[in-house]
Amino acid sequence: MGEKLAFCRKSCYCLPVNREDIRMKMKKMSFLAAIVAAGGLSAADIELPKPETQGGMPLQEALQSRRTGRSFSDRALPREVLSNLLWSAIGVNRDDGRRTAPTALNRQEITLYVCIPEGTFRYDAAANKLVQTSEKRAGDAPLMVIFTADTARQPERFCHVDCGFVGQNIYLFCASQKLATVFRASFKAEDYRPLLNLGENEQILYVQAVGYPK
Ligand SMILES: Cc1cc2nc3c(=O)[nH]c(=O)nc-3n(C[C@H](O)[C@H](O)[C@H](O)COP(=O)(O)O)c2cc1C
Repeated sequence: MGEKLAFCRKSCYCLPVNREDIRMKMKKMSFLAAIVAAGGLSAADIELPKPETQGGMPLQEALQSRRTGRSFSDRALPREVLSNLLWSAIGVNRDDGRRTAPTALNRQEITLYVCIPEGTFRYDAAANKLVQTSEKRAGDAPLMVIFTADTARQPERFCHVDCGFVGQNIYLFCASQKLATVFRASFKAEDYRPLLNLGENEQILYVQAVGYPK
């Protein structure tokens, strides 16, 4: 009584399973789902590896190598490289939450989104994770970085300057890692807007394509 056959995916065998077992397992699963939801981490979000904050190419050599590259191989960036790139771009580098790139009055109005093979994500710098905004992606490189600014938090002309600092951080990181990159003011914002779940005053200002050179 109370026993039925259940399909076990892992072993591909039919095993007798007690109803109470199933009930307990389902309870456990919903408990885990609740934990995930409470932590704000959905199944598709990506916990980034801890970024490397030491070493790398000397700054003078990176400046010597910095240049724009516009053709990319299909090879995706490993998670470690993605994490290091985003930290270099706009990651938290002090205990008070300030960033590797300055913003006027420390308003921190710039948000980076990334299109990678897994979809489109918002970079949460404080938590060092990627929060999925779409399963789709856009762009012509394995990594597209989309720069948005909250124009209610900062006069628009400062938003543009602040994006420039972030873009140069990415340029220097790419130079140090022998990655190709191009900062772009010419792009179709409508290709990206549906993927981002933007806030009321959040505007897309620039994109930056990144990949291994072809
Ligand atoms: C604000 C800004 C906007 C740019 N927009 C584009 C663009 O839309 N398309 C593009 O191919 N390159 C773009 N670039 C890259 C420049 O063309 C490039 O930096 C310039 O030719 C100098 O080359 P270098 O970066 O190798 O020194 C942009 C650069 C900046 C700073």
